[in-house]
This record gives sequence, structure tokens and C-alpha cells, in this order.
Amino acid sequence: MCGIVGYIGQRDVLPLLLKGIKRLEYRGYDSSGVALICTDGLVVTKEAGKIAQLEKALSGSEYDCLQGIAHTRWATHGAPNQKNAHPHTDSAGEIALVHNGIIENYRTLKKFLERHNYTFRSETDTEVLVQLVRYNYQGNLTEAVRSALSQVEGAYGIAVVSSMHPGTIVAARMGSPLVLGSGDGENFVASDVAPMLEYTNRVVYLDDGEIATVTADNFTITTIQNVTITPQIEEVSWSLDQIEKEGYDHFMLKEIHEQPVTLANALRGRLNRESGIPVLGGLSNLYDEMREMKNLIITACGTSWHAAMIGEYLIEELVRLPVAVEYASEFRYRSPIFPRKSMLAAISQSGETADTLAALREAKNHGVSTIGLVNVVGSTIARETDGGVFIHAGPEIGVASTKAFTSQVMTLSLIGTLLARMNNLSVQQGAEIIEYLERIPDQVSHILKSEAQIKEIASAYYKANNFLYLGRGINFPVALEGALKLKEISYIHAEGYPAAEMKHGPIALIDENMPVVVIALKDSVYDKVMSNIAEVRARNGRVIAIATEGDTEIADKVNHVIYIPQTYRLLTPLLSIIPLQLLAYHIAVMRGCNVDQPRNLAKSVTVE
Ligand code: AGP
Repeated sequence: MCGIVGYIGQRDVLPLLLKGIKRLEYRGYDSSGVALICTDGLVVTKEAGKIAQLEKALSGSEYDCLQGIAHTRWATHGAPNQKNAHPHTDSAGEIALVHNGIIENYRTLKKFLERHNYTFRSETDTEVLVQLVRYNYQGNLTEAVRSALSQVEGAYGIAVVSSMHPGTIVAARMGSPLVLGSGDGENFVASDVAPMLEYTNRVVYLDDGEIATVTADNFTITTIQNVTITPQIEEVSWSLDQIEKEGYDHFMLKEIHEQPVTLANALRGRLNRESGIPVLGGLSNLYDEMREMKNLIITACGTSWHAAMIGEYLIEELVRLPVAVEYASEFRYRSPIFPRKSMLAAISQSGETADTLAALREAKNHGVSTIGLVNVVGSTIARETDGGVFIHAGPEIGVASTKAFTSQVMTLSLIGTLLARMNNLSVQQGAEIIEYLERIPDQVSHILKSEAQIKEIASAYYKANNFLYLGRGINFPVALEGALKLKEISYIHAEGYPAAEMKHGPIALIDENMPVVVIALKDSVYDKVMSNIAEVRARNGRVIAIATEGDTEIADKVNHVIYIPQTYRLLTPLLSIIPLQLLAYHIAVMRGCNVDQPRNLAKSVTVE
């Protein structure tokens, strides 16, 4: 996610734009920039790092200008450096563009433009877009944008200015939010209403496929197909704090509800249905080594380690390849052994976790090729691995990881399918898994509709002092993750266990005061799990079950049941974790805990 602000009117443009992108910093903050249309033409300034770096570069500058656009970036293509920062301009330096989203066919478009002697300075998909606008420019900026966008596949929210058209901003939306603000003799464009609220609360939310031509006195909206749209002005009543959280009480809840979108983003441009082979460009330099690999080590910490555990079950079953999951903090000090033809994967949301980075370097010191599954583009782990796959979860502000976890698991599912297709998985089997993967975002949306029921369950158990989470097979790591979510935000002691392990000790804890969460899906071990549930109930334990829709047996054998849709058994963690995230969240809120910044925790543990 990136932040976009555009202004046209009588105010001092530069301070307004800088203040505006600061209000959007929660959307992404690894680089930023502004483009101003001044009396002497187009002026672009952009810097890597926080917005403060941009302010420093602009300090003391005076500009005579009446319009401009600004951007704060969350890198998806190309490291977060000055060269890749937005705004991007055409080669002639007469058109500037800022973008939020992912252009899926940018490589094809780039090759097309290079054949027409266009050159590029950055690694971004956005620069390809602004050059494509130039290529289509024949005197009308809106029409040039329309023609360019008709050639684009993917998601975008853009704002465009040009020294050839002072007094005009062109904005367009497909998949990434964009809103117009209507003022008196002034107008605004932004990713959300936060930057404009202090000037106007009259807004128009653009819909997908719409293009707006904005001047100081009015704006017109058409579809990509040039059908005129009548703007629907709405009045915003939210506070600024509510805006940043998009109306949710906490970033964590917002991020839980973002998962249908972030999971779709993790899949975007990566599914080839015909070949049944996921397309993971960031690994292509390692394809030969991956094909020859005989041993995979996955190292991580915390929630990322739970994702790694799920990867172990999935890859071992699909690929018949030995996988070893290692706590990074242990691995780095254990003089680890690297069997012949080993590879190492490091999983990290932040890409800066000290233990994971050290474990990665240990593997590299042994000459082992490394893969990164990282969220933050340009992070240290992303830069130091030999190849990798960005999980595209967007900024995760809540300390307790939710959307990053499911995007890590989604990315591991893609890598597992790719490895399996390099071995014995048939085209048809690969295509079948891809079909299941494509349904996951909507299935997550469906589960999120159970939030009221889950909140009700939370109200019955939020005073408990201990919880036990049980799961079997690929849902054992989900039990671990559900327990971690609860303990880190509600401070309730919670343990995750393989369900069968309960009788080897933890069953001594079971009584009416120990809620037991059991992942009891209709799979090959369902009957075994039902026996574990009976053992708990026989000792007055209270059971909250996560079950498969259509399972009518379980309801009268447990105290509460939360249903999730059917999917391919190796993909069930993508769904079974959702109720556990919501349960932990609502219990923590009922206990009055600081959900987004739990005590003693940091979002990224960059120290040992
Ligand atoms: C997850 O909710 C925790 N915040 C923590 O366990 C986290 O997963 C761990 O510190 C690893 O962080 P990373 O993914 O950024 O490397």
C-alpha cells in the first residue's frame, strides 16, 4: 500500500502535500516524493527513507505553484531508494505520476516501450506506466492516461500532472482506493480522506475503472470506456484516527479484515492455470538448484516460525522432500549440519529480525543458497538472500502478526506447488491446487462474517487464566499460532499442542477452568481428534471447536463450534487461523489490553 495526495487551488501547495502524506504514513513509509507544477515548469523532489528525509531535502525551498502531487511508498517492485521513489516522470520530464498498486504486465509493456527507444531509470512498474502515458500522449493528458490504462493489467490508484497542462490533475482507479475532495475554488485527490479532512469533508470515492480530470473549480469523471459518470458527493464524519484505521478500533482488527485483499495480492500475477505452475519471478535464478534440491531448511522466529512449520507439512507431503524447520535463535548457535544439495529459506515479515538474519548468514557462510519470504521490500533479509518471494501483505502495523502470517502461508503454498511441479505433481494436480488457492480470499471473507459469533464466545472465556490449543497434522502449527496470538495480546497463558500429545501430560491441566480450542476438521484424523475432545469433556473441560462446514456430528460434542469452508486439506491453515485471530483479538479487547502495542513486545526484534 502507498499513500497518494494531490492538490490544486490557492493554498501554499508544498506544505499541504507534505502534511497530507504524513497523514498517510501508516500506508507505507520507505520513501516519498513530490511533483509540483510551478510557473517555471515541473519540479520533482524525492528521497528514500521517512518523510522527514524529503522535508529535509525541501527545507528552505520556495515554489510559486498552484498544484502538485505527493507520494509515500511501500515498495513492491524495486528497492526503497531514491531512484525507485515516486513520483516517476517521462523521459522528457514533462509528465509526473504517482501510483499505488501492482502493474502485472509491466515487463511486457516495458519491452514494448524499449523497442520504441524509451529508456528507464528505475526498477519500478510505475515508471513503465508514466512512459506509457507519454507514448500515448497526443495533446490531451486525460486521453493519454485513458489509452495507457487500457493497455494495463493489474491494480492501480494513480495521480498524474504535467507541465504541458498546468491547472489539471488526472486521477484513475482500479483496485487501489482513490478519493476526490471537493473544496471552494480548490480540489483534492488522495488514497483516503485523511489528507483532506481539515479542508473539506465533501468527497467522491472513485470506483474501479474510473478516470477523473480535476481542476481548481471542478472535476469530471468518466469510465475507461469514456462513459461520463455523475459524481456522488458524500460527507465524511469520521475522525482522523478512525480514518487511519478505516473505521476499525485497532490496526490489528483492520489487518485481520484486510486478509481477503492481501491474500489476493499474494496470488496476483503468480498463477498459471494452464501449466499448473506458479510464476515466482524472484526465484527464477534458483530454479535449477531448486529442481536438484535434496533438503530444505526453513528458519524463522515467532509467527513466521509457525508459517514455516506449515510449509514443512505441505512441502514434505506434496514434494516428498525432507524439510527441517529451525528456530533461527537456536540454529545460529548450533553448528548446524547442511546435507548435500541443501537450500535454506528464511521467513520474516520485517526482514530485519536479528536471529533470522544471523541464521541466514550462517547458511550463506556454508555456501548454501538461500530464499527469502519477506514482506518489507528492501529489508536486509530480502537483500541478502539469493532469491525470494515478496508476500505483498502491505504494512503490518499491529505488533501481533495476522495478515503477514496468512500471506507467508499462501506464499509457501505457491512455492510448494512449484517444487511439486518440478517433481511428480501433474499439470492437472497443479491446476487443481491453483483452483483451490484462487477460492481462498473469498472463503476468508466468508469466515470473517462469523465475527459476531466469535465475539460472543470470547465474552464467555475472556476471564480465563489458561488456554490449551490442540491440532493435528498441518493444523498443529495453527494451534501453536492461535496460542501465540492469544498470549501476546491478552497476556493469558496459552499453549499449543499436537492433539495426541495431550494425554502425555497436559491432560492433567484439564478442568472447567481450562478452555480448550480444538481444530477438528473433516480430514483423515477427524475421528482421532473427536476422541481427544471426548477426553477433554470427560474431565469437565470446555471445548471451542473449529470445524468444517457441513459437519453436523460435532455440534453436540463441544461447547462451541465455529465453522470454516471446505478446501484442499493442505490449505486448511489459511482458513482455520482466521477464527483464532478474531478470538484472541476480542478476548484481549474485553480484558482492556493494548491490542496494537502489547506490553514488552516490539514489531521487529532487531536485537538478540
Ligand atoms: C508475531 O505476532 C510476533 N509479533 C512475533 O512472533 C514475530 O512473528 C517474530 O518476531 C518474527 O518477526 P518477523 O516475521 O518480522 O521476522
